[in-house]
Amino acid sequence: MKHYSVAIDGPAGAGKSTIAKRLARELGYYYVDTGAIYRTLGYFFHLVGIGPKDIDGITRLIDECVIEIVYDDEDGSQHMFLNEVDVTEDIRSPEMSKIASDISAHKLVRDTLLEMQRDMARKHNVIMDGRDIGSVVLPRADVKIFLTASPEVRAQRRMEELKAKGNTKETFAKVLKEINDRDYNDSHRAVAPLKQTKNHILVDTSEMTVDEVIETLKKLVLEKCEA
Ligand code: DC
Repeated sequence: MKHYSVAIDGPAGAGKSTIAKRLARELGYYYVDTGAIYRTLGYFFHLVGIGPKDIDGITRLIDECVIEIVYDDEDGSQHMFLNEVDVTEDIRSPEMSKIASDISAHKLVRDTLLEMQRDMARKHNVIMDGRDIGSVVLPRADVKIFLTASPEVRAQRRMEELKAKGNTKETFAKVLKEINDRDYNDSHRAVAPLKQTKNHILVDTSEMTVDEVIETLKKLVLEKCEA
């Protein structure tokens, strides 16, 4: 049976997860947040005291990190398990964002996580978001979207997310710097950098509401895939 796959790539804070999650729910697809997989691996190395750039340590211990994606039966949300412990919340801090970005630059890391992502798409209709989904993970995805927004808009959205979680310590300048640094890191690494391929459809959400983005993407998906 044919499974449809939709790749949504783009920089940090472009709204990928908000959009992909809602779109998946409306279309009855699985939402796969691949950033959460990198974050979980980064969290493992953080817990065992190995830095994200220490490739020798990573090589030594990577097989001891068992990652599972579990979907909540009730609301369909994606939970990340690290060696059987639910770490879904622990991987969301700004510190983990930086660690995930650094760790994702290693070829060994990307190769190790590749099959897990492809396996999801073999078994289900998926909306998968990340940095290299359309270029590397699912090069034959039915629809490829490159979702972006200006760094300032993305930083402002991040501030609102942090505030909603009760974190009022971060300043706009710091969040903007983190976004710019992560953009640079993610798009300049040698292996599978963030990039818009020629089949990606560019959607700039800087001036769009979430509803407008959802409608735009839904139309694009329904043109190619059955609901
Ligand atoms: O989507 P996110 O911000 O949760 O991702 C965290 C980091 O993981 C991101 O800065 C780069 C890395 N990542 C990646 O290299 N490839 C992906 N497909 C997804 C995330």
